[in-house]
Amino acid sequence: MNKLGLILLYAVSLTRLAAGPAFTIDARQPAGKVSPRLYGLMTEEINHCYDGGLYAELIRNRAFLDDNSKAEHWSVVNDSGSAVTIALDQGNAYNDKLTTSLRVIVEKATRDHPAGVANSGYWGIPVHANTTYRASVIARADSPFSTPLTVSIVSEDGGTVYAKAKISGLGPKWKRFEVKLKTQQVVPTTKAQFRVTLEQPGTVCLGLVSCFPPTWNNRPNGLRKDLMQMLVDMKPKFLRFPGGNYLEGDTIESRFDWKKTLGPIEERHGHPCPWGYRSTDGMGLLEFLEWCEDMDAEPLLCVYAGYSLRGIHVNAGPDLEPFVQEALEEIEYVIGDTSTPWGSRRAKDGHPKRFKLTYVEIGNEDWFDKSESYDARFAQLHDAIKKRFPQLKTISSVGNEQPKKLLVHSRKPDMIDEHYYRSTDDFLKMSPDYARNYDRSGPEIFVGEWAAHEDSRIKPWDAGARQQPPTPSMKAALGDAAFMAAMERNADLIKMQCYAPLFVNVNPGARQWRPDLIGYDALSAYGSPSYYAIQMFSRNIGDEILKVESTETAVQGAATRDGKTGQIFIKLVNPQSTPETLQLELKGVASVASEASVTTLAAAPEETNSLTHPRNVSPSTTTLASAKPVFSYTLPANSVVVLTLKARF
Ligand code: AHR
Repeated sequence: MNKLGLILLYAVSLTRLAAGPAFTIDARQPAGKVSPRLYGLMTEEINHCYDGGLYAELIRNRAFLDDNSKAEHWSVVNDSGSAVTIALDQGNAYNDKLTTSLRVIVEKATRDHPAGVANSGYWGIPVHANTTYRASVIARADSPFSTPLTVSIVSEDGGTVYAKAKISGLGPKWKRFEVKLKTQQVVPTTKAQFRVTLEQPGTVCLGLVSCFPPTWNNRPNGLRKDLMQMLVDMKPKFLRFPGGNYLEGDTIESRFDWKKTLGPIEERHGHPCPWGYRSTDGMGLLEFLEWCEDMDAEPLLCVYAGYSLRGIHVNAGPDLEPFVQEALEEIEYVIGDTSTPWGSRRAKDGHPKRFKLTYVEIGNEDWFDKSESYDARFAQLHDAIKKRFPQLKTISSVGNEQPKKLLVHSRKPDMIDEHYYRSTDDFLKMSPDYARNYDRSGPEIFVGEWAAHEDSRIKPWDAGARQQPPTPSMKAALGDAAFMAAMERNADLIKMQCYAPLFVNVNPGARQWRPDLIGYDALSAYGSPSYYAIQMFSRNIGDEILKVESTETAVQGAATRDGKTGQIFIKLVNPQSTPETLQLELKGVASVASEASVTTLAAAPEETNSLTHPRNVSPSTTTLASAKPVFSYTLPANSVVVLTLKARF
């Protein structure tokens, strides 16, 4: 080394000493490939995720099946000038799926004093300005009506009519009617009801009442636009569905029985969900698949594997065979061409094009099955799937303890699904070494459910959790970010990962689990600090892993590079309550282009977001003028930082 070189080295060392701990990124050669599917989503019916959440249906208990003894969420509409009674009727069914109807007996009603029924929706009916809703009613009358039925969206006290439409032509036969309801320039509110009323005496039977606001991509049985936008903004590469516990059900009968979720909504009876309420099955198999398509994400299909949550299992062998067939047919529905029976059913349901599918998960959290039957059940399903669809990869459950123990020994699953619900402190402790000692020769790893909780003593389902806000605070986001950095450092092995649960309806009584990534009521939604941390990570990811080393153990991080563009993404997490100045060194980089940027999420640990303060903790992006192959950067206290820079080599 010449004199000038020595002087430079000395100067660099001095600056480093002055600037504090070093974070070194080795950009000379990648340490591995980042899986192209690393960031995805996990979903199931929990916390009113679909009914009362993403699934845009506004009418709660639309088919009167929630309770056999009373019309839950329906009430009578009458006043001093009108009179009405209602009763559930199990002897007057629309079909064998909608087995109950609502008999509405209007004894007294006039134009000025209409009478009928009102639905209170999922914690209110959302009234948006200048919006066209699509309502449908399956109804019959004991005798033909001379005046029409009115459907309307009105304020809770009935004093303000936001939108209304008339339905004529009711007769003794069941018929489906569809109308549009258009609101004007109104102040948005959830304090509204959906009404079906008469202006003359008569008896109407309702089989199903449905109302949708505009949906994502205008799908008739579609999804809420605001929530879909939030998901699309995360750029997920896959969607794990339909659960979770929702796949397994409490009993075999109440598993996610996909065949019963197909066809028009009036063909879906719905079923009890293990989270304590009834699912309409409006979100059926095709809706899940189209949801993936609309996000440009790949389905990751979980198939029922013969275990249900009350500890019931189906013995491997002939007993399991019907469920094996059910799984094969389900896969055929997803990827079979239209000449196959279930591919043709998919076409009949409106989607001739096959969906893309790479991974099939067999069961969910089968460590709960104390009979230890999973190995044999997995083997039977795995063999059948591989025989019929050799191109597919299978995923198995693993044990829940750390290190994770394999549950399947008789076969080699292509991938195993690890779940981590841990406190931030635990994540901060385990992340530096996470997966460092894993067997790189496989199986691949899917972290199919994970989330940092602020306090490990409070279980997600406990009464204590109900006292806390539904979505996590900045403290949890710091744990989430440390774990994501660990997964990125090991992204050659951790092929996919997804936070859980995804959604929570924040109304009292709506949730069964906390924390959850995205909160909402009928009208609006917000992302938690963890949502923004995930978005920052998933939107800024390359395809090559760069090895990182840090002399500061409190700060955790990862780096990836886009092999084509040379863009480097550096993720840094400072969980400390003081700022930390790091000396960043990019080994093998000759210069850094001036268009570097920094995105920062920083807030006190207890800070969080809510419906009223949706962006209290949210990221901000600025340009980074100081980026060089060696430069110092100060991380704010309690922060997650993503540096994006273009390197020249
Ligand atoms: O994410 C909530 C639940 O946690 C899932 O349904 C289950 O798989 C896990 O135990």
